[in-house]
Amino acid sequence: MGMGMGMGMGMGSLKILMMLLLLIESTIFTESSHRSKQKKADGYGDINVFNVISFGAIGDGTTDDSKGFKQAWDVACNSSTASSPTVLVPQGRTFLLQPLTFNGKSCTTSNYITFQIDGKIIAPSKPSAWECKPNCDHWISFRKCDGLLIQGSGSINGQGSKWWRISCKNKKKACPSRKPTGFVIADSNNVEMRGIRFEDSPKMHISFERSTLVHANNLTIKAPSNSPNTDGIHIQHSTNVSIHNSIIQTGDDCVSIGNGAKYINITNIKCGPGHGISIGSLGINGKTEQVEYVHVRNVSFHGTTNGGGHGHARNITFKHITSHASTHPIVIDQYYCPHKHCKNQTSAVEISNVRYEDIKGTSGRRIAVQLSCSESTPCTNILMKDISLRNKDQNDDTSSICFNAHGFTNSRVEPNVPCLQKHDHL
Ligand SMILES: *[C@@H]1O[C@H](CO)[C@@H](O)[C@H](O)[C@H]1NC(C)=O
Ligand SMILES: *[C@@H]1O[C@H](CO)[C@@H](O)[C@H](O)[C@H]1NC(C)=O
Ligand SMILES: *[C@@H]1O[C@H](CO)[C@@H](O)[C@H](O)[C@H]1NC(C)=O
Ligand SMILES: *[C@@H]1O[C@H](CO)[C@@H](O)[C@H](O)[C@H]1NC(C)=O
Ligand SMILES: *[C@@H]1O[C@H](CO)[C@@H](O)[C@H](O)[C@H]1NC(C)=O
Ligand SMILES: *[C@@H]1O[C@H](CO)[C@@H](O)[C@H](O)[C@H]1NC(C)=O
Ligand SMILES: *[C@@H]1O[C@H](CO)[C@@H](O)[C@H](O)[C@H]1NC(C)=O
Repeated sequence: MGMGMGMGMGMGSLKILMMLLLLIESTIFTESSHRSKQKKADGYGDINVFNVISFGAIGDGTTDDSKGFKQAWDVACNSSTASSPTVLVPQGRTFLLQPLTFNGKSCTTSNYITFQIDGKIIAPSKPSAWECKPNCDHWISFRKCDGLLIQGSGSINGQGSKWWRISCKNKKKACPSRKPTGFVIADSNNVEMRGIRFEDSPKMHISFERSTLVHANNLTIKAPSNSPNTDGIHIQHSTNVSIHNSIIQTGDDCVSIGNGAKYINITNIKCGPGHGISIGSLGINGKTEQVEYVHVRNVSFHGTTNGGGHGHARNITFKHITSHASTHPIVIDQYYCPHKHCKNQTSAVEISNVRYEDIKGTSGRRIAVQLSCSESTPCTNILMKDISLRNKDQNDDTSSICFNAHGFTNSRVEPNVPCLQKHDHL
């Protein structure tokens, strides 16, 4: 038994642990009919694989397979194998899932859990078929997991098209039901996601919340460019998050970085159509908000930074960016107003130390650089270096506007940003 437990354990508790191990051993033994050992192609050796089919999932695209998934998870998460227990969603089938939470709180495995998704997972096809009334906050979520690898060549399709038609923006009344986020990682640590394809979520596709050390790599996220609020990945109250080598094409932000995001690296993202990478909607309802140490590199994007509360957004870098006719290649907008009636803002999230470097390409609008900061809380230490944003219509120039923005330009910056107020002391 290769259980790696913590050190400093007294004799008494060691005995209890041994008995617990025996108990787990016998549980696993009786469950062996559910279990199929598979040799992993990547040579890691034998791994315990808990195939959702063995737990009653059908995979015909119409039967609700939620129960089978939940049971496979529960057994995997209490497995005592030396290697990572693996929940397998096999290739060649389509599994229908109702809103479902995989909770890691009571898991006893000492190893990380692998969720291997090679098949297709779909949501109910219309809002009325969702079993989560009156409010559907999320579809699939992983909570309180410590050590989780979600990978595979499969896809996760939220079948959002009928949700998109319920418009919440234009209605005076509150929305009848909130739209669900497709895939949530919450209150978790050490999570890695790779290879999976996400499609057509009712609202944002993936959300990382209150989590640390989350790494996403080689994901594909797709929804029509006119689908509302279908952000690719949203990050909030999370630290040490990286997103690399992914393709994100949705109707809203490719990545949106919200309150409480710290140490975020985003590199090699093919972003668009969509709104780009945004640090946004901070400080709604006057809350105190903080975003720090965000590095966006080698991305095609449209960036917005906005707010209306207190707090700060600082130490942010956009580097090696290619813009393909983005409507707002470079924007900081503290007056951003998502609804029709916003108050004139008397306070704003303090924006400082934002670096734009090596940003090339075309702008869809004449104004390629817009830095609109509030009078009460000007933006400070904005650095612009090696910027070349031409108009997509080659006969027209690009230009810049700023309000209350302080900082520098360095080497070539096209369009000129003469409105950036120089600080003597910086
Ligand atoms: C795992 O085992 C623990 C201890 O026996 C138990 O409390 C818990 O409910 C189990 N978790 C799941 C998900 O079955
Ligand atoms: C990315 O994911 C796809 C689909 O799962 C897979 O076929 C491909 O090998 C992965 N690429 C890399 C570089 O890992
Ligand atoms: C972000 O990148 C920096 C510099 O490349 C690195 O030191 C840091 O560990 C990275 N952080 C994450 C969360 O990937
Ligand atoms: C998160 O990243 C920062 C900066 O790279 C580092 O100092 C810190 O130790 C990291 N936190 C964890 C939990 O790894
Ligand atoms: C930037 O992305 C391009 C393609 O998207 C890739 O070829 C290149 O290697 C990347 N550069 C870096 C420094 O990662
Ligand atoms: C982060 O930003 C703050 C405030 O703008 C600045 O004082 C600090 O030097 C920055 N830190 C780094 C590592 O750039
Ligand atoms: C907010 O108020 C100030 C001063 O009263 C005014 O100059 C400014 O134009 C107003 N801004 C907006 C966005 O309404």
